[in-house]
Amino acid sequence: MKVFLETMGCQMNVLDSELVGSLLRSAGMELVDEPRLADVLLYNTCSVRRHAEDKVHSRLGWACRRKADGKKLVIGVLGCMAQRLGAALPRRHAGVDIVCAPGQLPRLAEMIQSAGAEPGGSGRQIALDPPRAGKDARPPAEPLGDRLESLRDPSRTHLPGQAYVRIMRGCDKFCAYCVVPYVRGPERSRSPDSILQEVARLVDAGVSQVTLLGQTVNSYRHRDGGKTTGLADLLERLDGVAGLRRIRFVTSYPADFDETILQAMSDLPKVCEQLHLPAQSGSDRMLRAMNRHYGRCQYDELIDRARQLVGGVGIAGDFIVGFPGESEQDFADSADLIRRSRYRNSFIFKYSPRPGTAAARRLVDDVPEPVKRRRNRDLLGVQQEVSLAGNRELLGRTLELLVEGRSPRSRSPENRPASSGQVQMVGRTRTDHIVVFDAPDDLAGSYVEVEITNAAALTLFGRLRRA
Ligand code: SAH
Ligand code: SF4
Ligand code: F3S
Repeated sequence: MKVFLETMGCQMNVLDSELVGSLLRSAGMELVDEPRLADVLLYNTCSVRRHAEDKVHSRLGWACRRKADGKKLVIGVLGCMAQRLGAALPRRHAGVDIVCAPGQLPRLAEMIQSAGAEPGGSGRQIALDPPRAGKDARPPAEPLGDRLESLRDPSRTHLPGQAYVRIMRGCDKFCAYCVVPYVRGPERSRSPDSILQEVARLVDAGVSQVTLLGQTVNSYRHRDGGKTTGLADLLERLDGVAGLRRIRFVTSYPADFDETILQAMSDLPKVCEQLHLPAQSGSDRMLRAMNRHYGRCQYDELIDRARQLVGGVGIAGDFIVGFPGESEQDFADSADLIRRSRYRNSFIFKYSPRPGTAAARRLVDDVPEPVKRRRNRDLLGVQQEVSLAGNRELLGRTLELLVEGRSPRSRSPENRPASSGQVQMVGRTRTDHIVVFDAPDDLAGSYVEVEITNAAALTLFGRLRRA
């Protein structure tokens, strides 16, 4: 059976797709890059904004039309949108055979086999996680646990030499706008021993950088008898893994950010000087309405402390513009926060009401679309100024990069430099700055030193010093 798998959404989904790939290969299936060549079409989906879901509906429309035209196909929806919409998906798209929530992915190979054995919809498979109505309705921890991780093929990661490692699932924060706690379930931390075993297997297979994943990664806390392991303890244990060179962790939640983590970043040589610390807004009024559990002042102090303790730290942020009730003054407060925090980069999103969330239930989406669009554009402009100024400070410095691969430009045949014999490569610094440079050959997965010669807002350019 040939399977095509497309991934939308965050790093958690990128990792889930990678693990699903291992699972399906070990069940004898083949993964292909071209949907037209596949017998099974799988979409690993995201519900965080309406736009992400619209994209999936259009993919499913295409897939179901092909099936209706007589092509023998198994069509599956995986991930967050599967959990959010459940049986409504095959009601809207009659060709959908499989609906598989994030916690049910370990069952996917059997689901495909059963669906394929009974073509025509009679083998339809729907596997959902326990529903979650609100903070107090806590379902029992889902039983399938780390099974997906245990089947992982450590030689196939999303980039050469790099791997994502999940350290926790779910989210208990219930920010007013956010669907994640409903679709990913309650917060659960993996045992440090299981994480260390997974990292050891990855390192044996040639991985030198791990990025630890959690929706609120700094809330990682595992209790075993009388012993509690927090993120700082976990970082310390991972720092001792021979052969590992870089450790990152995302995403951090600004409230209850324990200073021991900053201390660990400063003390442990493998932990990179990088934080993803979304503020969402610079206005106290908005932060309260968003149910973020911190204020502007507390956030500012955290940024100051991070800069004091972790020299040269690169900080990235997320912002939502046009949340219900956002005034021009609230918006100006977000622009001010970007300038003050001197982010390396920010992701800026227009508010998108998500059914079932507190904001969608209680607040009117009252900021008109053109205003959202303008605020989005203006905030991006502010961030670009700030990014450019920060990048210019790196001119002339020589920095270590982990090479990711060829730059998108060098992969496109039109833009290929004629016959220089060089390839344009892209890599990342410890602070997560992106650097483009020319090299005599493909250095993906290796560490190089590059002198920074030019700076744009999103990219640095460098000259190879040492490969
Ligand atoms: N767990 C992470 C990220 C969750 S989703 C965190 O807490 O930071 C990634 C980003 O999407 C969020 O940081 C937020 O900026 C954005 N986002 C989430 N829900 C949204 C919505 N309903 N509309 C617009 N943006 C949203
Ligand atoms: Fe969503 Fe908030 Fe949880 Fe992040 S912390 S996943 S924004 S509810
Ligand atoms: Fe989207 Fe689910 Fe990630 S909603 S952002 S894919 S956790």
